[in-house]
Amino acid sequence: MTPLRIARRAQRIEPFYVMEVAKAAATLAREVAHTSRPMIFLNIGEPDFTAPPLVQQAAARAIHDGNTQYTQATGLQSLRERISGWYASRFQADVAPARIIITAGASAALQLACLALIEAGDDILMPDPSYPCNRHFVSAAEGNAVLVPTSAAERFQLSSAKVQAAWTERTRGVLLASPSNPTGTSIAPDELRRIHAFVHSRGGITLIDEIYLGLSYEENFGHTALAMADGLGQNIISINSFSKYFNMTGWRLGWLVVPEELAPVIERIAQNLFICPSTVAQHAALACFEPESLAEYERRRAEFKARRDYFIPELNRLGLKVPVMPDGAFYAYADCTDAAKRLGVSGSWDFAFELMQRAHLAVTPGRDFGTMAPERYIRFSTANSMAQLQEAVARLEKVIG
Ligand SMILES: Cc1ncc(COP(=O)(O)O)c(C=O)c1O
Repeated sequence: MTPLRIARRAQRIEPFYVMEVAKAAATLAREVAHTSRPMIFLNIGEPDFTAPPLVQQAAARAIHDGNTQYTQATGLQSLRERISGWYASRFQADVAPARIIITAGASAALQLACLALIEAGDDILMPDPSYPCNRHFVSAAEGNAVLVPTSAAERFQLSSAKVQAAWTERTRGVLLASPSNPTGTSIAPDELRRIHAFVHSRGGITLIDEIYLGLSYEENFGHTALAMADGLGQNIISINSFSKYFNMTGWRLGWLVVPEELAPVIERIAQNLFICPSTVAQHAALACFEPESLAEYERRRAEFKARRDYFIPELNRLGLKVPVMPDGAFYAYADCTDAAKRLGVSGSWDFAFELMQRAHLAVTPGRDFGTMAPERYIRFSTANSMAQLQEAVARLEKVIG
């Protein structure tokens, strides 16, 4: 039989190793579920909270009232207006609803942006380490993701100097994430401004994934790139989502903000590829911006911060050094070199499997996040209750303490 010919585009997509580890963890979890040490999942990048009551009620109402037909490809106008209002009240940023396009999560937003702007063969610079799917959105649009190694001193983010040094005639732009997955660190606002000013001066594009922006814990960070002064914020492309701050991962809802001239182009692609994002999820999301829901989200943000403040010093104490204190998101990117030696293994991949077996702790090895010393790092997610994090520390203490 002639073998099925798979497109080169699809062959370029690497496996998402997180899922391999997650599969092994799920199998072991079933075996140890009824022991004194059930599995603790610190590998998953999603909030342990679910959508708050008003959001759930709004979804039920939309279904009950039959508000389930397609919406416009760009989403409900009322939702675009609410998001615009949120930018104004929370971030003091002036973002017209016409620049906001509602999508099926940040994932669809990233696809739309890449398809609209990247030509085959274009290079897109991004930091190493970074969220693996971002590389693949670029390669699905037939561009090349160029990983630029970063250091802890740079908060694992690109600097303007590095962008300038890496820029060639093939470079089309940069794809940043602030705060970042897997490090939880943001780009300093001045540095971001310098990067974007340079990129813009070269006629390039700055895409910034701000999916964790709502979960920022430090005054110096947590500013949207869209608020950049002197008109620079007007030509940024910012990606965001209801998945993380709004605790709605499985509802598949996000958005992107684009320069006004790009909105009709994105609309055309979205009409064809997706028709529209989930109508029920959109009606539910309107309730995210009610004062009661926003108060709940802020309470949860404080909880995420408390978890970070507890867990990261504990990791450092146990020799799992986190080189930069995260200022946002819910991750800790820790150097496990010494801890792995203590367990008699080398490299974060084997270390992750040892921790899974010996402590029933699921974590994510660095392999997914880039090529810069991935064997040194593991990613912990602190999107877990404080009691679970305390239990995780006790188990870590036993096996590597
Ligand atoms: C940095 C980053 N971007 C995008 C996504 C995709 O999120 P969504 O659920 O909104 O598609 C994730 C999910 O973990 C992420 O960490």
